[in-house]
Amino acid sequence: MKVENTRMNVIGKKVKRVDAIEKVKGMNKFVADYEFKNMLYGAVVFSKHARALVKSIDTGKAKELKGVKAILTYLDIPGENQLGEVVEDMPCLVPVGKEAKYYGDVVAVVAAESQKIANMASGLVQVEYEELPAVLSIEESLKNEIKVHESGNILTSKRIRKGKIEEGFASADLIIEDDFFADYQEHAYLETQGIFAIPDSTGMTIYGSMQCPYYVQNAVSRVLGIPHNSVKIVQADTGGAFGGKEDVPSYVAAQCALLAYHTKRPVLLSYSREVDIQFTSKRHPIKSHYRAGFKKDGKLVAIEVNAHMDMGAYATLSPIVMYRSLVHAAGAYDVPNVSVDIDGVYTNKVPCGAFRGFGSPQVLFAIESIMDEAALKLGIDPVDIRLKNVLRIGSRTPTDHLLTESVGAVETIMNAVKISDYENLKRSVRDFNSKNRFKKRGIGVSHIIYGVALGAAGQALDAAGALVQVHRDGSVTVHVGNTEMGQGMKTVLAMIASETLGQNIDRIRVENADTSYVQDSGPTVASRATLFSGNAVKEACEKIKEKMISTFSKIKNVEKEDVVISSGLVRGGKEEMNFGDLANICYSSNVDLIANGWFKSPKLNWDPKTGLGEAYLTYSYATQIVVVEVDMLTGKSTVIDVFTSHDVGKALNPVGLVGQVEGGFVQGMGYAIYEEIKMKDGRILTDNFNTYIIPTINDIPQNIKIDFVEDEFSEGPFGAKGIGEPSLMPAPAAIANGISNAINRRVKKIPATQEYVLDLIEKGEDKL
Ligand code: MOS
Repeated sequence: MKVENTRMNVIGKKVKRVDAIEKVKGMNKFVADYEFKNMLYGAVVFSKHARALVKSIDTGKAKELKGVKAILTYLDIPGENQLGEVVEDMPCLVPVGKEAKYYGDVVAVVAAESQKIANMASGLVQVEYEELPAVLSIEESLKNEIKVHESGNILTSKRIRKGKIEEGFASADLIIEDDFFADYQEHAYLETQGIFAIPDSTGMTIYGSMQCPYYVQNAVSRVLGIPHNSVKIVQADTGGAFGGKEDVPSYVAAQCALLAYHTKRPVLLSYSREVDIQFTSKRHPIKSHYRAGFKKDGKLVAIEVNAHMDMGAYATLSPIVMYRSLVHAAGAYDVPNVSVDIDGVYTNKVPCGAFRGFGSPQVLFAIESIMDEAALKLGIDPVDIRLKNVLRIGSRTPTDHLLTESVGAVETIMNAVKISDYENLKRSVRDFNSKNRFKKRGIGVSHIIYGVALGAAGQALDAAGALVQVHRDGSVTVHVGNTEMGQGMKTVLAMIASETLGQNIDRIRVENADTSYVQDSGPTVASRATLFSGNAVKEACEKIKEKMISTFSKIKNVEKEDVVISSGLVRGGKEEMNFGDLANICYSSNVDLIANGWFKSPKLNWDPKTGLGEAYLTYSYATQIVVVEVDMLTGKSTVIDVFTSHDVGKALNPVGLVGQVEGGFVQGMGYAIYEEIKMKDGRILTDNFNTYIIPTINDIPQNIKIDFVEDEFSEGPFGAKGIGEPSLMPAPAAIANGISNAINRRVKKIPATQEYVLDLIEKGEDKL
């Protein structure tokens, strides 16, 4: 369903990013830019073993150091020594007599007059450990010989049981079975984790770099033992997050607030890059075993998946990440028989958590590799096999969710074919390969589905609010509970407010989140800000607009129905007035121009026992075609061309969307071929960007062509769905398929680093 933009003034148009100027001029205040009188600097004492019993903590020597103001252990926690958003398995500070469960568990925190003194003091805290054997892999964890937690190494298992799986396989002409592994990825946000805690007479104000202010509020409140209304969380300008600031800021804030509470002075706790990479969350490694059955014509008849995700030492967000892996494991296809089993296992390593895509890129890489392998074996084009199985209106997803609207999947495939000039592209790649002996090119295709927002497993959190105020000069303040972290939320919300109210966008200011203005709006994750906060802003603006129209109609004696507010002008009959003048008249007439909006997810029917039902509110779809060139002598892969089409429901901010898709692609490309976490005995060695290699501007393909499909979603603001995560998700799968086709061997592990690819070229069996 394509809808014309003719009646829209702002939505769908090119606008300037509302926070562009301040960013370009370096005017933003990130958390480490704040300064307060009498401020102290924090540092953290981390466990030095993957698994060890904490026998004693001696802070005496550290306290002697001049300038040290506090060294705190578990004994200094006034509230609960308990963290964990989903499962409460994580201490704020590890007590004596308990196990430190990964290299990075926190044993003590330090505050001092300077960062240097704080760091020195943290090194002087003497912790006596009894080192214990550690669990460092999924396989060791599954043996269950050493228990990471007493409750056992498998925290949760989730499943899907759709149709009759063995009958499905019995009817198949071709069965493909294989193992895949997708490893860690580090978020590599520009700004590291940081929190500023400022105590006052009754409580605490926290400024911080974060995605989820209400999570932080909850954690600080619990650890300090004070009520929520005494913990005010204000989001500082945030320099990137990508999921890495979903739950981690809660832990950093708890540590920092504790220091501020005891010293009664403002404390800044800002992690160095090395600390941040070593001790904060990552994308989960997932090992998966796939079995898929196809008919001769390419029709998928059965998919069976067994997967294990490495959660690390604590559950953090793993159960909800796992839910997304589960739902996305069978891919974007209409398949009648599905069986998926996925377990989350504890290891004595860094806890893994949210990362753009949230457990889906790992499994999408696997299923999309299977689709390509099937196409090859059946002699079908990779595009055609996807079209054969694509989801449409009336189809049922792998969880048996009947799709009734906003399914732009076919169009994304057709448009990717079109913008890539697919037939000619194939010809030119064949041509290149016939002329080059040591450089080979391959085309990679992927097609994905993305469940928007928190879904059935997260319904309790899936709501969001807004507080909008029109001032008497007609300027507008918008408060929401979601956060801007670089993704462009403020611009989209300003556009929605502008379109709805009829005020010009340059008169609208969207504030950083502050827990004292808007009710708990859930986390800013799951590509949900546009949909949830967008709807809340729209509702608040509609309420205010109604009052303004009513006031105008009274004073000008025109019918309400005849009043139109747009582009900062109010018109009705022959009367006309500036938006600001009308706002001023409203004030003088004691009309309040402030309103709340609230949007909550419609109830989803879901059965966790069978994994069947309405997994998510709606779905976004994408198709990507890439050309990858591999140097057959060195194994180095380079992405040459990218063609990507995304069904976004409605392109509210086309320029912002392009930014998201380009950025998401590059981050996905980093995961596919560059980024590798190396560990020794559970300790991360690649703890800065000299050893953890991410793509630079030089690695970005010159040719990225982007297309948007607008198949409107009736519950979305102006029809929009989400883009934050779908922008990354097709990339690892498409690039892995591209490499496979270039080298004639199947890539089964990402990142497909240069060493891995060279190894495949030299030793791998011919598969393709
Ligand atoms: Mo996002 S990975 O849902 O913070």
